[in-house]
Amino acid sequence: MRKRKKIIKRRALLLIVIVVLAIFTLFWLNKPNNLQNKTIEILKKNDAYNKEYDKEYQDIKYLDIDDFSSKVNKYLSIGYTGKEINNLFKLSKKNQDKLLELEKKDITKFVNIKNFNIDNLERYNEYLKNNKYDLIDIVTYVNINLDKDFYTETKEVQDPDSLLVLVNKYNHLPSNYKPKDIVYVPGAYGNEVPFRAVLKDDFIKLQEAAKSDININLMPTTAFRNESFQTTLYNNYVSKDGKEAADTYSARPGYSEHQTGLAIDLKNMALSNTRLTDDNFEWLNNNAYKYGFIIRFPKDKEFVTGYQFENWHIRYVGKDIAKVIHDNNLTLEEYLDLYVIEY
Ligand code: DAL
Ligand code: ZN
Repeated sequence: MRKRKKIIKRRALLLIVIVVLAIFTLFWLNKPNNLQNKTIEILKKNDAYNKEYDKEYQDIKYLDIDDFSSKVNKYLSIGYTGKEINNLFKLSKKNQDKLLELEKKDITKFVNIKNFNIDNLERYNEYLKNNKYDLIDIVTYVNINLDKDFYTETKEVQDPDSLLVLVNKYNHLPSNYKPKDIVYVPGAYGNEVPFRAVLKDDFIKLQEAAKSDININLMPTTAFRNESFQTTLYNNYVSKDGKEAADTYSARPGYSEHQTGLAIDLKNMALSNTRLTDDNFEWLNNNAYKYGFIIRFPKDKEFVTGYQFENWHIRYVGKDIAKVIHDNNLTLEEYLDLYVIEY
């Protein structure tokens, strides 16, 4: 008898626990979101509450940012829903300021992409139609202009002396640009090779490392080339192979990063026919970044750089940046878009 009573008592207790838990769960599920409540509270406090938008306000999470109330109302007046507005707030301030001036755009799929640029929205969508890349890559590729043919819309670079200057088939140097800090080092053909003073110490360390690690003498063939030298080179290649082929391996005058003084072509002195062996390149690829250099025209990135793989062409960017580019398997174009340019 006592045993039965005990069992009944236990069951009753269990039931009470279940009921209490169920009530808590129901309460929790229906609990109004504090941040959403706060949205309405703040709007009212700022005299910006508009009854017409009450339903949408309830979907918007409060954010402690400048102009929260006016931005919310502006977005609602453009036609965005409360839920969409939460997403818009993930965009950079620059993008949001532009978005507030435009009619409603469908940008939901882009809101978590850090280098999204609202100015390029139509180009992303157009490029998406014809390319199978991931959306995250579509954004980068359009930002670096791959949706446009090489040499069609080109710009003059604004920062030719910068270590991060980008010279490629979309960006050319000012006419007859020449860096001011040229120094000379011994070259592969007994010549004196000019490049920028800023990279000299690191280049010598790279040469020393190549000697001690794999016992090769790594020498520069050319580095800084002025515009008239590049003109002669390019014209010779065009005469020999035709323009289309020449464009795959030689830059047009003004468009060569050799003219920045930051690029160096290398040669293993022991080789007569080729500049570097595959093994030499493997070492270079694994080590150049430690001295501030990147492989500027990597394999599998021809479509980004516009040039065939060059295992001998290195470009100085400084050690920290070279490491990021190396570790993430990027080109300079991609690095600048992902890490430097603020959208
Ligand atoms: N060979 C590289 C692309 C140049 O001509 O600058
Ligand atoms: Zn080169």
